[in-house]
Amino acid sequence: MMISSVHATLSLFRQSNNSLRSLKFCLPFSSSAASLSANNLSRKKSRQQPVLSALEYGGVKITRQDVVKDDDPTNNVPDNIFSKLGMQLHRRDQHPLGIIKNAIYDYFDTNYSNKFNKFDDLSPIVSLKQNFDDVLVPEDHVSRSYNDTYYIDPQTVLRCHTSAHQAELLRDGQTHFLVTGDVYRRDSIDSTHYPVFHQMEGFRVFVPDEWEASGMDGTSFAAEDLKKCLGGLARHLFGDVEMRWVDTYFPFTNPSFELEIYFKEKWLEVLGCGVTEQEILKRNGKSNNVAWAFGLGLERLAMVLFDIPDIRLFWSDDERFTSQFSKGQLGIKFKPFSKYPPCYKDISFWINESFTENNLCEVVRGVAGDLAEEDGTTTSP
Ligand code: PHE
Repeated sequence: MMISSVHATLSLFRQSNNSLRSLKFCLPFSSSAASLSANNLSRKKSRQQPVLSALEYGGVKITRQDVVKDDDPTNNVPDNIFSKLGMQLHRRDQHPLGIIKNAIYDYFDTNYSNKFNKFDDLSPIVSLKQNFDDVLVPEDHVSRSYNDTYYIDPQTVLRCHTSAHQAELLRDGQTHFLVTGDVYRRDSIDSTHYPVFHQMEGFRVFVPDEWEASGMDGTSFAAEDLKKCLGGLARHLFGDVEMRWVDTYFPFTNPSFELEIYFKEKWLEVLGCGVTEQEILKRNGKSNNVAWAFGLGLERLAMVLFDIPDIRLFWSDDERFTSQFSKGQLGIKFKPFSKYPPCYKDISFWINESFTENNLCEVVRGVAGDLAEEDGTTTSP
């Protein structure tokens, strides 16, 4: 998007009397790597944009041709979505999403003595079967539509949730696992919605001994364990928060719940979870077991924990964003900055006694309107 009007990061250097004032302007470039360049994401295919031609996932090369098929009407993946495929924000230890992933890992490692196996580079390209059939999503479910999901071809999609990996990992013999990854859903874009976001899936399988010893049936036992586990995780991340469980529906769990936490005077949904449908276990060689599963949205948690006001910021490579976070630091609060890239112009001029700062601000606002941002004033020697 072109920004044509003047925007200013204004800082005044003041001198007494016959002062020399120096003014810093910040003029936006049209399409530089602006912090919110993600704003430009168009729902239509754009063929002009230069995009990365190949990327790797868990050692497997993925090229643009594998994902974007210009003349295939059964493909609805635009270039700007393909360009997100190799970013792997959740694998960057200094990025808010990586910091949260690691904090959740710490919780599980500490409380379950490293029993949970972690996967964070499974390819987001999955079959229709993995994404939907394997987790019992009904044939007529809205999430299967071309309107909601990115289809590479009629049998292949960009995963719309990390639950797409449950079945293959179960078949692989995994009984305790965490899967973190980028997930894709066609959606409008605003400060809380973006068509790519990150989820972490958790899955735990129990053997009969575990619930039989408790005197409970398997389902009640798993449900209680699940709530205890996730309540502890919420406290690990948020401290002593108020939380509540809300009954809900997912095709792959029964009973199903959402966990909401009370944050800034609002109840906020942070994850979905439940006791895994027996059919999923049966199909994957675990007939005599019960299991629980959860899926949480990393951006959601990060926005709350770091005070990040806009989901698009996660994609920013602007140093004013990235430099604010460090590995292992959960308590940092994000400090907002101009959404335009800085471009300093020093303008110096002589003024007379009658000059006031407000005069100058008015001149600037006359040109720039509300795009002018003030950084405060500084007196120069
Ligand atoms: N896959 C669900 C979603 O994306 C979350 C979920 C995962 C719910 C596992 C229950 C169990 O909304």
